[in-house]
Amino acid sequence: MRERTDSAPPRARGWLTDIGLAGHPPGLSVLFFAELWERFSYYGMRALLVLFMITPVAEGGLGRSAAEAALVYGNYAMAVYLLAIPGGLAADTLLGARRAVLIGGAVIAAGHFTLAIADPAAFYLGLALVALGTGLFKPSISALVGALYGPQDTRRDAGFSLFYMGINIGGFLAPLVTGFLAQSPAMKGWLAAQGLDPLQSWHWGFAAAGAGMVIGLAIFIMFDKARGSAEGPVSMLAKPTAEAARQTLVTLFLATLGTLGLMGLIVLSDRPGFEPLRWAYVLVPAAVAVWFGVSPKEEPRRYGAMAILLIGSILFWAIFEQAGVTIALFADQLTRSEVGGWAFPSAWFQSLNPLFVILLAPVFAALWMRLGDRQPSSPVKFGLALALLALSFLLMVPAALLTAEGRISPLWLVGLFFLQTSGELLLSPVGLSTMTQLAPRRAVGFVLGIWFLGFALGSKLAGVLGSTFTATDAEALAWSFAWQAGVAALAALAFFALTPSIKRLMGGVR
Ligand code: PHE
Repeated sequence: MRERTDSAPPRARGWLTDIGLAGHPPGLSVLFFAELWERFSYYGMRALLVLFMITPVAEGGLGRSAAEAALVYGNYAMAVYLLAIPGGLAADTLLGARRAVLIGGAVIAAGHFTLAIADPAAFYLGLALVALGTGLFKPSISALVGALYGPQDTRRDAGFSLFYMGINIGGFLAPLVTGFLAQSPAMKGWLAAQGLDPLQSWHWGFAAAGAGMVIGLAIFIMFDKARGSAEGPVSMLAKPTAEAARQTLVTLFLATLGTLGLMGLIVLSDRPGFEPLRWAYVLVPAAVAVWFGVSPKEEPRRYGAMAILLIGSILFWAIFEQAGVTIALFADQLTRSEVGGWAFPSAWFQSLNPLFVILLAPVFAALWMRLGDRQPSSPVKFGLALALLALSFLLMVPAALLTAEGRISPLWLVGLFFLQTSGELLLSPVGLSTMTQLAPRRAVGFVLGIWFLGFALGSKLAGVLGSTFTATDAEALAWSFAWQAGVAALAALAFFALTPSIKRLMGGVR
């Protein structure tokens, strides 16, 4: 983890030495904490999103059906990660990464505080602001981490692993806080005692998400300059010729337009009669895979390999991202949220995935170190990830059937998140690093955008799949878990079977 090249910048000294960020460029600690708090705001709000929407108006919610809430969840998450494409481009060409983080963070905070206003119009405006801000913030903060390390710096992967820890520490803490504020009888009692409206507890949860983003932004503003994280790519508008500047703006405009058009089509696919459009999410990448895969030239064949990995990731996230919808509803309505007779807010189940990332990531890192060259290739890791995902939903089949008799033990969901998180650690970091290795130098940003696109489409499908959730028909619910487990298992088998061909397309990248 800690080896450094001789040319590495001097190590950070001081309080951060104690928490393992030592030995990395000083800027990493700032980015670590800024992203920790941004993810705190993101996942703190996400833990409440669907539950708030389905809570009756008389109880302070939006009074929407579970099906409607699930579609909003999918469209929101899709928008967040699709906007990362023009957002990243705007940072590359116009704003520079630092400014994109600052503006993005401010817009995100404004979004969460808008959600804190109890008004349905404020709700949708708030979601739009968070999506817009995250599109600027998320790719840029990752780019800034990358910019801390030179191309030969061996600390790079370790730096990104630490960064991923920060993400998950934020993701772990957030639902504990926002769930307590929004759902707990203690908080409602306190509000009433203060003469405040206890039905507004949800909005206190959203406000806490906004406060988290403000903390992240404050850390970035106060320390980033001092600790000297790299500037990241700077504005190309500073380029000498007016022609270059004009071209930059045109590209940015077209990319934004294209993204908005794609978002429009995806939202349209929810409309009765337009559902078949959803097949395109998988069929278009499949067509790309075949088209490029048969090319005699190396670079197009690599794009073919990327398209296959993209399909795997879309299917993976389509099941995995149901954590915030299907599984959130299952936890809320069909699971006993208590340990040892002590009741906790159902949103707390959302902390299990980040908790398992924190616990398991070092285990996987050690495993890959130990296996060295004997570790499985990335297509095999994708297959294993999908197999674990299939197992997680297979586990939910008896769990769902048991709900016919009443709420079930929280341990079922602990098992689900354990299996899913193991899968996440096989697919998410592996996919990211493989995609960047496959990408030609000049197109790394584009390829990262494609990786976000996979996450966006998967999240969208998660919303679509979550919209069939039912708490009153145990058999239908069990069947839904069963067929999804079947699809994931088939996808896993396909990856195992195709491994030699995918490796051939990857041309030397493991
Ligand atoms: N937990 C990850 C994060 O919030 C999920 C993710 C994976 C998001 C891949 C985008 C792309 O960063």
